[in-house]
Amino acid sequence: MTAGLEVLFQEVHDATGMEFLGGRAAVAESRIRERMSLLELSDCSSYRDRLKADRSELASLVEALAVNETFFFRHPIQFETLGNELLPKIIKPGRTLRIWSAGCANGCEPYSIVIACLEAMKMLGHFAFEVIASDLDTQALAEARRAEYGERAVTQEMPSVLRDRYFETLSDDRWRPIDAVRRPVSFSNINLVADPYPLLCDVVFCRNVLYYFSPAARSQVIRRIRGRYLFLSPTESLSGFETLFQSVDLKACLYESR
Ligand SMILES: C[S@@+](CC[C@H](N)C(=O)[O-])C[C@H]1O[C@@H](n2cnc3c(N)ncnc32)[C@H](O)[C@@H]1O
Repeated sequence: MTAGLEVLFQEVHDATGMEFLGGRAAVAESRIRERMSLLELSDCSSYRDRLKADRSELASLVEALAVNETFFFRHPIQFETLGNELLPKIIKPGRTLRIWSAGCANGCEPYSIVIACLEAMKMLGHFAFEVIASDLDTQALAEARRAEYGERAVTQEMPSVLRDRYFETLSDDRWRPIDAVRRPVSFSNINLVADPYPLLCDVVFCRNVLYYFSPAARSQVIRRIRGRYLFLSPTESLSGFETLFQSVDLKACLYESR
């Protein structure tokens, strides 16, 4: 890798926590070069100057580099654990439950959380809850607010009975979550390595986000999360942070803060 490119990777790391190792370096390089060619800049140092002078270019680059892969009920066991084990333990009459989806991409995760809560109400009765959904990628957040999804997002893991119950059909291959699923979710633009976090969350979903971070950025985020319970993805772990979180359910990658 050239020194110029390394400097650009460092810029992106400082702004987002993301690092590009192994196969991801080549993908990141080609995305950076696409941005440079769009701006008709041929060398990395001019592009670095541009990034420093124009923060919106940094945002565009971050959007180009972010991995937004997601779908409804990704890692289904986590939504079963939320509905069947965690919610019965933590809901309290008269109190609004706060759930944070950190790194929500195009919204499949926060809307899946709402569906899991609505399904749990059949067993537990009505309870008040809100879902705060955040991402640093403003384009992904715009898609999340628009809330229109193609076949892959709704069929990959979500049982068809839930699609029929909680989605309206827009066309042969487009679906939108119904009002009752969209209403409890508020979206905001939060960069996990730079911005303040929502306070007093009962449950935090931070899945498939820290996997792309450097160890230092990952550690910074885990230390700042103020949730009572935390779901990570199966590719992530909290080893090394045992003084902050203890494992509650290894299969569901669920942790409780100490
Ligand atoms: C692979 S998606 C995960 C989506 C969802 N959580 C899931 O598990 O399906 C990763 C998301 O993390 C976001 N992300 C990356 N760096 C971030 C940062 N520093 N702050 C907030 N979000 C970030 C990306 O924009 C992307 O939307």
